[in-house]
Amino acid sequence: MIGMLPKVSHPNLLVDINTADDAGVYKLTENIALVQTIDVFTPVVDDPYDFGRIAAANSLSDVFAMGGKPVTALNFVGYPQKILSLEILAEILRGAYDKTQEADCPIVGGHTIVDDELKFGLSVTGIVHPDKIIKNCEAKPGDKLFLTKPLGTGILSTALKSGKLDQNTTRKITDVMSQLNKIPSELMVKYQANAATDITGFGLLGHTNELAQGSGVSVLLYADSIPYLPEALTLTKEGGYIPGGSWDNKTFLQDKVTFTDNIDEHERMIFFDAQTSGGLLISISPDKSEEFLRALHESGVKDSAIIGEVIQQEEKKIRVER
Ligand code: CO
Ligand code: CO
Repeated sequence: MIGMLPKVSHPNLLVDINTADDAGVYKLTENIALVQTIDVFTPVVDDPYDFGRIAAANSLSDVFAMGGKPVTALNFVGYPQKILSLEILAEILRGAYDKTQEADCPIVGGHTIVDDELKFGLSVTGIVHPDKIIKNCEAKPGDKLFLTKPLGTGILSTALKSGKLDQNTTRKITDVMSQLNKIPSELMVKYQANAATDITGFGLLGHTNELAQGSGVSVLLYADSIPYLPEALTLTKEGGYIPGGSWDNKTFLQDKVTFTDNIDEHERMIFFDAQTSGGLLISISPDKSEEFLRALHESGVKDSAIIGEVIQQEEKKIRVER
C-alpha cells in the first residue's frame, strides 16, 4: 500500500509514510512538531459505549507510541442509518468523549457518512519536541524490550462475536483495549527510550518485525515473559476463534521468526494474534530497564513486562525462546 503512494518529501517532515511508523510528524518550530494520525475500525465489542472508548484509546495510541502528547481529535463515523438507532451512535460518541477527556485531548469536530457497516475512529493531532520523537526504527543491540498490555484480544473479541465469551472475560478484554497508553508513553519519554511502537493489527511479532527491520537489528523474545490473557490460550486450543488477521500475520512472518520446539502451535498463535488497541512495545537501554519497569508497575501499568532484548542482526529477525 505504502509503495503505491507518491513519495512525499518536505524539509519540515520529520517522520513520513515511508518508515511504517505510527504517525506522521511535521516540524512547526524549533520546539514543536505536530504528530498526526487517523484510525477507524468496525466494532470489536457489543456495547456501543465501550466501542467508543476502545476506538478512542486506539486512535490516541499512535500519538502516544511516538512519545507525543495528544492535543485535539476529530471523530469519523460511518453510519448505517437504516439499521442503527441514533441512541447507539450517541453512546459511541459518549465513550469516545470520556476517553479523550481522560487523555486531556478535546474532540473539536468530526464527520459522518452513511455507510453499509458501522465504522468509527478518530483523527488525533498531537505535539512533540522535535528532538524527543520516539520512532520505531532506532532500537539498539543490548536494549531491553517491554510490552505494556497482555496479548490475546484478537482471539477473544472473535470469540465474543461468536457469542462464546462469558461476561467476566468480556469485561477483561474491554478493560485491556480501552486502557490508554498515556502513562507508559510519558514514562518512556522520561526514561529516554530508543524506539517504540504500539501493538495493533500485525500482532506482537508483526510489530516487533517492523521495529527490528527499521532498526537493522534482530530481536530475542522470552516466551515465558510475554504477558497474555490465559483465556485466549484456552480458546485457541478449542480452535475456531483465530481472527483472519492473525492467520495473515502468521503467513507473512513465516520466514522471519524462529521458535524453539518447546513452544507449541497454540502459544505461537497468541504471539501472532492481531490486537486492537494493544500495548506499547518499548526498546530501552539496559541500564535504565529495571528502574523503568518499577516506574511502570508503580504507576499502575501492572501487566507490563520485560519480554526480550535487542540483539545484533542475524538471519531471522525474531527468535522466540523458552
Ligand atoms: Co500504531
Ligand atoms: Co494506526
